[in-house]
Amino acid sequence: MYVLVTGGLGYIGSHTVVELIKEGKKVIILDNLSNSDLSNLENLETLTNESIIFEHCDIRDKRKLQSLFEKYKIESIVHFAGLKYVEESFINPIEYIDVNINGTINIIEVCKKFKIKNLVFSSSATVYGKSNPPLKENIKIEKPLNPYGYSKYICEELIRMSQKEIISTSITILRYFNPIGAHKSGLIGEKITDYSSNIMPNILLVADGKKDFLIINGNNYDTKDGTTIRDFIHVVDLANAHAKALNNNKAGLNIYNVGTGSGYTILELLQTFQDVNNTKLNINFGKNREGDIISSFADSTKIKTELYWSPSYTLADMCKDSWNYYKNQNKRKNTIY
Ligand SMILES: NC(=O)c1ccc[n+]([C@@H]2O[C@H](COP(=O)([O-])OP(=O)(O)OC[C@H]3O[C@@H](n4cnc5c(N)ncnc54)[C@H](O)[C@@H]3O)[C@@H](O)[C@H]2O)c1
Repeated sequence: MYVLVTGGLGYIGSHTVVELIKEGKKVIILDNLSNSDLSNLENLETLTNESIIFEHCDIRDKRKLQSLFEKYKIESIVHFAGLKYVEESFINPIEYIDVNINGTINIIEVCKKFKIKNLVFSSSATVYGKSNPPLKENIKIEKPLNPYGYSKYICEELIRMSQKEIISTSITILRYFNPIGAHKSGLIGEKITDYSSNIMPNILLVADGKKDFLIINGNNYDTKDGTTIRDFIHVVDLANAHAKALNNNKAGLNIYNVGTGSGYTILELLQTFQDVNNTKLNINFGKNREGDIISSFADSTKIKTELYWSPSYTLADMCKDSWNYYKNQNKRKNTIY
């Protein structure tokens, strides 16, 4: 029996594939390569020493998606495939709705039709909007602040509404906080694009001299150093939460935060990055971003007590591993003639 990992060549998906294979699971990766490429598959095969089945497919292609369930015995789905850039979602909201929502509807339909045992869905702490931390899974979900957050909110609602129809399924929604870091090997990590507005890709570009300085949006918030607070989580810890969720056969719908439960300010993150990597980052303070959340960190009690998951990587590990992946990528690019 296979686990289908949609978006399995992407940042979080690829790390999850490694964790699943480590646990002895047989994995099929589905991806349309819109934000990844086949070199990730080669790297995953090198890392796991396994030959991995790959299906080039768009989750919106209902017919092709269904044909995979006729071709393979698929027992579980981990659904990562989707678009994730907040700024891009303002420019192209329809595309975000189409990929994230219609894609998830297709996944719900195959769960029903093929009696899938486990579904794990990638959601985001953005669904908490401006609620005050520590954020608990049962607080009322606020109106999402952007089209991306809205698409995740609707997907959660669709899954919630259809859970009774998907009777054979144990469904887990994981709400990620701020994933950073990369696999220690330096072979897999996060792709940087023009829409990468998250802090770590921008730190890496500044550290490498590809950007002159890092703009920190706001240093007059009511926090210990005036900068915003986020709950950074190492991507390998996050990947491991998916493996735990798949092993959890609790019937019905279960929602878990995946965050460390500790918030760090942006300046603390920058200081740690500079210390562990022995680099200097040029920074400039910019204006507060409209609608920015001052402090966001998880209450991670539920995942710790119910799934026996706990994070094992520190902020220093996250900074070291992000830089290691970035440098390794550059080295690899420079050796391809
Ligand atoms: N990275 C984050 O900070 C973060 C935070 C919260 C939630 N998430 C969610 O987690 C999931 C994975 O995020 P990620 O950081 O690994 O993103 P990613 O872009 O690195 O990976 C997504 C993968 O899905 C593929 N994909 C996109 N659209 C597709 C489609 N229509 N059909 C098939 N494949 C498609 C891409 O090619 C890519 O390989 C996303 O759903 C994202 O919204 C990410």
